[in-house]
Amino acid sequence: MAGKPLLPTEQLVTASERWSREHRVIYAVAVASMRIIDRVRDQDEGAEIDILDAFSFFNDYVERMHLNYEEKHLFPWFAANFADLGSDLVDRAAAEHEESRVQWRTLTAAYEAMKGGAADVLPEFLDYFQQYLSDLRSHVAKEQSYLYALLEQVLTPDEQGRLRAEGNRSEVASLGPGAAPVYERRALALCARYGVPIAG
Ligand SMILES: [Fe+2]
Ligand SMILES: [Fe+2]
Repeated sequence: MAGKPLLPTEQLVTASERWSREHRVIYAVAVASMRIIDRVRDQDEGAEIDILDAFSFFNDYVERMHLNYEEKHLFPWFAANFADLGSDLVDRAAAEHEESRVQWRTLTAAYEAMKGGAADVLPEFLDYFQQYLSDLRSHVAKEQSYLYALLEQVLTPDEQGRLRAEGNRSEVASLGPGAAPVYERRALALCARYGVPIAG
């Protein structure tokens, strides 16, 4: 797969660069994390450290930042401007966010148990994580293909700029100033170690 885009082209190039970039990063880390999970199951000690790094990425970059940004800014804009077409798409995306949060709470409980010394929780943690990643990849691909593709076509440059500025503020509010690029650099390094390119 090295050098090839992670998502089919039609899922990559349609939305504004900011949101598409976040999706590319999230998708790539999800692919890499599934490879890391396989290595952990094969008892690779280095992978055991990397899976915790991946866990912190999804906890902060996705669950704390990305989902909240979409819910606070993108989904309301979409629902308001596409009352007929958009509301169903937004409702489904929002419902998937809720499912993701439920999965994440379960996964976090397993993570906390492991940190507390319960070594026998690892297989359960890996199973939950794998399911979470599989569902998240599907969610991101759907959003990219339907919601973001539509946004790209209808947003005026002013609206693009406003939503991008709101995204920047939301990013700082979620993670702190300058933190998101640090997560992205760490994500790039993690993906590179597992042979997963972050496309475009
Ligand atoms: Fe989403
Ligand atoms: Fe998303």
